[in-house]
Amino acid sequence: MIPKEILDEINSRLNIKDIVGNYLSLKRTGKNYTALCPFHPEDTPSFFIFPTTNTFHCFGCGAHGDPISFIQKYEQLSFIDAVKKAANLAGIDISKYLKKRELPTELQIFESYHNKYKEILLNLPKSHPAWNYLIKRGISRDYAERFELGFSNGSLKSSILDDFDLPPTLGSELGIIRKDGSEVFNNRIIIPIKDDFGRVVAFAGRSINNEIPKYLNSPENKFFQKSKILFLYDKAKNIIKREKYTILVEGYFDAISMHINGFENSVAILGSAFTANHAKKLIKLTDKVITMFDMDAAGQNATLKSFDYLLSYGFQVAISQYNTKDPDELIKKQGKNGVLKALENSKKFYDFIPEYYKDKYNINDEFGIEQYLEKMAEWYLKFQKSKHAAILDTFIKRISLILLKPENNIKKAIENILKYKKFNKKIIPYVSQTEDSISSKQKNIMSLINNLYGSGLNTKDLEII
Ligand code: GTP
Ligand code: MN
Repeated sequence: MIPKEILDEINSRLNIKDIVGNYLSLKRTGKNYTALCPFHPEDTPSFFIFPTTNTFHCFGCGAHGDPISFIQKYEQLSFIDAVKKAANLAGIDISKYLKKRELPTELQIFESYHNKYKEILLNLPKSHPAWNYLIKRGISRDYAERFELGFSNGSLKSSILDDFDLPPTLGSELGIIRKDGSEVFNNRIIIPIKDDFGRVVAFAGRSINNEIPKYLNSPENKFFQKSKILFLYDKAKNIIKREKYTILVEGYFDAISMHINGFENSVAILGSAFTANHAKKLIKLTDKVITMFDMDAAGQNATLKSFDYLLSYGFQVAISQYNTKDPDELIKKQGKNGVLKALENSKKFYDFIPEYYKDKYNINDEFGIEQYLEKMAEWYLKFQKSKHAAILDTFIKRISLILLKPENNIKKAIENILKYKKFNKKIIPYVSQTEDSISSKQKNIMSLINNLYGSGLNTKDLEII
């Protein structure tokens, strides 16, 4: 509750004429002012401002009040938000009257353990293996503080939980304490995982020797679901809006290294798939994504999987290309410029897909081409179903340049494959594919490929883009 005297003080420091004048154009009538009422439609002003009483009144709709209530009504705010805004304009600090919204108990526990873990890390001697590890990874003390890293040396046990006077099982449910009372993250670097508002909802613990598993994660809880959280999102969200694109990476340290090197619009998935929830969250900030997953097979598969949601949510996706294992290693080896180059070299998804699969099939061989085109048809359908149908022609162009065949033929082949697949599904929906149906399917596609080749056109006929 904010005391009445404070509300009066705020109102008295604000001049109703100035407040309303911020929003409406006023006309002087004697010692009062009039305006067209913002709260009901009218052609002639019945909205009056009375400087002597510091109030407004509309003779048309009856709206009436003081500076705070004008702000509340005009901006459609809650009372408390209007008071906050008015207090700010009046230069009055009301923070001590605003009840701090209490964190749910689970998050208070995470916050308390996190504070202790940070303290433990900062108090470790420089020669401690945890610091050796961090320094080796390019994380100085300043950066450790910036990303609020911590360390568990096993000394806290359930001490913090005990303060909360809770059933001892909660510690193990949250994945902080084991049933025997020991700490889950003992001897690991603590990485706080935060929700969109910056509240710690889970930990990741990175081993500092070669202990397996490399990472331990808190189990999911009411506030922490991997499918909904992106690492460093809370820090990145405003920068993503400003930069108008985001960089999607795979690992915690990839994200941290990217931020340290100025790519603060980077966020990471949490060791599992990119989901519809992630896409929904990001599309509110930007519709441009550059993926920068690991360059190994797992990373490339994760890249392709992420397209399903990225494309259907309408993102313009580009895929960065670089020649190290992951962004963290790229930065270690080639610095910020390496990342810039990788971003510059990123390929739009409809350029990437034909290029990527061209090496997966032997396109010097007709059978290889058939498989390649089937794959392209799959993507063609995905693009068509997503919000990206406009790029289909360009996609076909890219394929035609790779296969050195005319666009029209590529397009026809793809359309036929799609038609044939649909046809196939309709006729034998529940029968598993027998040798026969496979070979007839292949035969069918082979004849279609023959058509493609039998066209007699050569590369000179290709439209060069
Ligand atoms: P560093 O070796 O610390 O740089 O990790 P990384 O991020 O390069 O790891 P990697 O590419 O192997 O894995 C990417 C992400 O998968 C990590 O950031 C984690 O989120 C997750 N991950 C990797 N290994 C494990 C593991 O052993 N357990 C769990 N729970 N997650 C893991
Ligand atoms: Mn990695």
